[in-house]
Amino acid sequence: MTSLVISNAEQIVTLEGTGPLRGESLRSVTPDARASIGIEGDLFESVGHASGGDSEFDASGCSVVPGFVDCHTHLPFFGWRADEDTARLSGIRYETLHREEGGIFRSARLLSEATDEEALAFSLRLASEMLRSGTTSFETKSGYGLSIEAELRQLRLARRLAEMVPQTVVSTCLAAHAVPKDGSAGQWVGQAANELLPAAASEDLATSVDVYVESIAFALEHAARLHEAAKSLGLRMRMHADQLEDGQGGSFAARWGFVSADHLNHTSLPAAGDLAASDTAAVLLPGATFTLRQSKKPPARNFIEEGAIVALGSDLNPGTSPIRSMPFVMALACRLYGLRPLEALAASTVNAAHVCGLGDTLGRLAPGYRADAVVLDVPNFEQICYRPDHDPVVAVVCGGEVLHVAPGAEGRLRRGP
Ligand code: NIG
Ligand code: FE
Repeated sequence: MTSLVISNAEQIVTLEGTGPLRGESLRSVTPDARASIGIEGDLFESVGHASGGDSEFDASGCSVVPGFVDCHTHLPFFGWRADEDTARLSGIRYETLHREEGGIFRSARLLSEATDEEALAFSLRLASEMLRSGTTSFETKSGYGLSIEAELRQLRLARRLAEMVPQTVVSTCLAAHAVPKDGSAGQWVGQAANELLPAAASEDLATSVDVYVESIAFALEHAARLHEAAKSLGLRMRMHADQLEDGQGGSFAARWGFVSADHLNHTSLPAAGDLAASDTAAVLLPGATFTLRQSKKPPARNFIEEGAIVALGSDLNPGTSPIRSMPFVMALACRLYGLRPLEALAASTVNAAHVCGLGDTLGRLAPGYRADAVVLDVPNFEQICYRPDHDPVVAVVCGGEVLHVAPGAEGRLRRGP
């Protein structure tokens, strides 16, 4: 028996197919007109025609897209760093703030001074706001620990957060984010590879490992060491690459079969070609470009046109991207990077699910996929990108349940027996 029907939508964008959408498969995506969607339990049952559900959401005049997948966040964290942003607006560089009590070190201290309950309450509130903007799954990361124990604590907090939210959550151990004050980069990476990653893997605290390759942080040789350790533990590898300078991270990640290379502002055209020819996703984070007012943008059109797997994330963090709305991120990707609305949508759903290792189960409106969907109060989804300050979300369906209905739209929902 169909438990929920989303009826009479003006437009639905199913993003059907298998695997991530890239090259020709991305170019051939078209939205469908006039459709209803049937949900049974937490899965889509029928997409196109459906009727007679226990409950019904009337989507007349609306468009429906898959629930957004935010494949790059720095949750859980505690506290903001607005004064650093103000300093940057007066001309101080991010790199200059990244020392002593500033930047990542400051967020590590704020997290260490917060109780578990305080850190969870802070992060939970952000996760609920993300749900109301249509994010039905997201990635969490460590990286504000900077010691073995503190990194494990942040990963355990991420696990508790995952248990408290309705969204699907995947966890990444950002094992190398800032070089701890009392050691060298090499020493820390050795410890991370020999102690942190095996401990995280034995407690099942992460499915991926991440490394920040930048001259203020870690080098490619450290990424190689972590890759080796991750591989032996069955963990997937990601990289913060080429964000502030061209550190050759993008092509390195592609060559070594990393799941993703993220940021990529300074990635060269040959390296864009390397990524396009590989299965390493180019994860674009325009929220950070916007916040840091970076004039250097990733070669996004090259990624798309040469067939790379392109995904988008919020990069939600207190330093470089205090941004949690995927509709806003999609608008930024179109404005700043030249993505087209359909490319931005695929990058925020099916391709982001692929980056999270969830591509077979969510990110599309297709029978058998997890019933995560966003109903938009606009007849075509392009308006997400066209009207960046309009909140288009009318309803969010997460795991088959209508978990958010925007004020004024309550009458569209008829709850069944
Ligand atoms: O993805 N660049 C490294 N990591 C984050 C920023 C972390 C911070 O400043 O707290 C990023 O932009
Ligand atoms: Fe990041």
